[in-house]
Amino acid sequence: MDVLALARLGESLGVAAEGIDLNCPVADATREALRRALLEGLVLCIRGQTLSPQAYLAAMRAFGMPMMQLRVASRHPDVAEIMILSSDDRDNDGDGQRLVVGAHWHSDDSYKAVPCSLTALYGVAVPGSGGDTQFVNMYAAYDDLSQRMKRRIAGLRVVHTYDSSRKGARVARLTPEEAEAVPAVTHPLVRTHPETGRKALYMNPNRMEAVVGLERAESDALLDDLTHHAIQEKHQYRHKWRRGDVLIWDNRCTMHKANADYPEGECRLMHRIIIEGTVPT
Ligand code: SIN
Repeated sequence: MDVLALARLGESLGVAAEGIDLNCPVADATREALRRALLEGLVLCIRGQTLSPQAYLAAMRAFGMPMMQLRVASRHPDVAEIMILSSDDRDNDGDGQRLVVGAHWHSDDSYKAVPCSLTALYGVAVPGSGGDTQFVNMYAAYDDLSQRMKRRIAGLRVVHTYDSSRKGARVARLTPEEAEAVPAVTHPLVRTHPETGRKALYMNPNRMEAVVGLERAESDALLDDLTHHAIQEKHQYRHKWRRGDVLIWDNRCTMHKANADYPEGECRLMHRIIIEGTVPT
């Protein structure tokens, strides 16, 4: 029988769960406790897992409906819902250079009309040092804004696009079919979380192109200011990976970024699953 133990990870966000084996069916009460821990902690780390791709997919169904991910080339050969992120990744459809997915602040999938709600990342192999994933709490970033700024950004919408001219890190080149599936979209700059009812800044510095209706210079300045505000240390949690961690985060109220600062030759292998979301409002 599972004996779930929860412990806080960071000051602003993050909770760790121990005492469960995701290979076994999770009891309803445990599933509800994990769901609540994620809603309250924004990032949930389930420690110590050893999962086949099939078992991992089955376990993540407890959190919602897994979605297919965009890039066909990075799909797991046996379980297509799993995207493989590896220290060996190269931009094979582009210039062949090293590719570190998610190396700049972002919220997953914001370039889609209906972005995923949650992302799960399973640490199959983690480097001896480095390779952390950093997170920010976007509820806190919104709450911390001045009343004046809250009034200024209320109702604003932002164009998000896969290959933004403002991106801070390289993104993988898409095939023509993949690119056609993700035309530019707009999303509110402040969204209301559909489950908690709380307001959060909704930003993706790697995919946002411009604020609708503003001159380009004003739009750039506003997006830069809000990004700097959001990523302040006090809003952050930095996850140091242990092999077997299953890390699940809520893209509706967080941003994150990967760090590629581990030594050359060290292996970092992650299996990623995304969970269906709703249109941001
Ligand atoms: C991602 O952005 O989805 C991946 C993050 C990571 O590899 O740390």
